[in-house]
Amino acid sequence: MDVLKAISKRRAVRQYRPDAVSWEQVHALLDAANQAPSGLNRQPWEFLVVTGKKIREMGKSYHSTLTEYLNNWEASPMSRSLSRDEFIRFSKTYGGAPVVIVVLVKADPIPNFRKADLESASAAMQNLLLAATALGLGTCWMTGPIHDEKTLRAILAIPGDREIVAVTPLGYPAGIPDAPPRHDPDLATKVRWVE
Ligand SMILES: Cc1cc2nc3c(=O)[nH]c(=O)nc-3n(C[C@H](O)[C@H](O)[C@H](O)COP(=O)(O)O)c2cc1C
Repeated sequence: MDVLKAISKRRAVRQYRPDAVSWEQVHALLDAANQAPSGLNRQPWEFLVVTGKKIREMGKSYHSTLTEYLNNWEASPMSRSLSRDEFIRFSKTYGGAPVVIVVLVKADPIPNFRKADLESASAAMQNLLLAATALGLGTCWMTGPIHDEKTLRAILAIPGDREIVAVTPLGYPAGIPDAPPRHDPDLATKVRWVE
């Protein structure tokens, strides 16, 4: 699949089939992530590949952070693609995904390095998402789980000198939502040409 097709096909997938994802596939995605550009070529990203009961522990933590969000469910953009119950199921089990990947960076004390490292790790994350789409796999970029950061760190034994950038479930989609409309599909307000 060419990259433009992968970009247009990628969706935030919140329902997964239980089918296993092979180590070769996971490795291919991590290799794609590892090819991302990075500030000063620091390649600062690190990845946790989570499976089994740890995903359920992470789900318990994510679900516990969602109360306020679920109270305003009707106003949520996600309510267009999932029912409230489906979203609760997603939060508890990461949609039934067999794998969850967590992206980390070393927490740099210098603000400019920290910013560059977070941007670089985000580029790695997007590479991973697009590569997954190309392999027929689903993902969902998530930062909500970081709201319960203390618990997440304890579950995954993440040391204090590592920053958690993002989390994604990974698996074969049980359903792919429609693309949410772009706020400005013609880019009329998003772009200013400068000569
Ligand atoms: C930085 C970031 C954080 C996100 N956090 C969450 C999250 O915690 N939970 C979730 O279900 N989706 C999360 N998403 C997914 C967005 O809701 C989704 O990308 C958006 O609704 C657009 O849908 P699409 O990805 O299918 O285009 C996040 C996306 C990004 C880029």
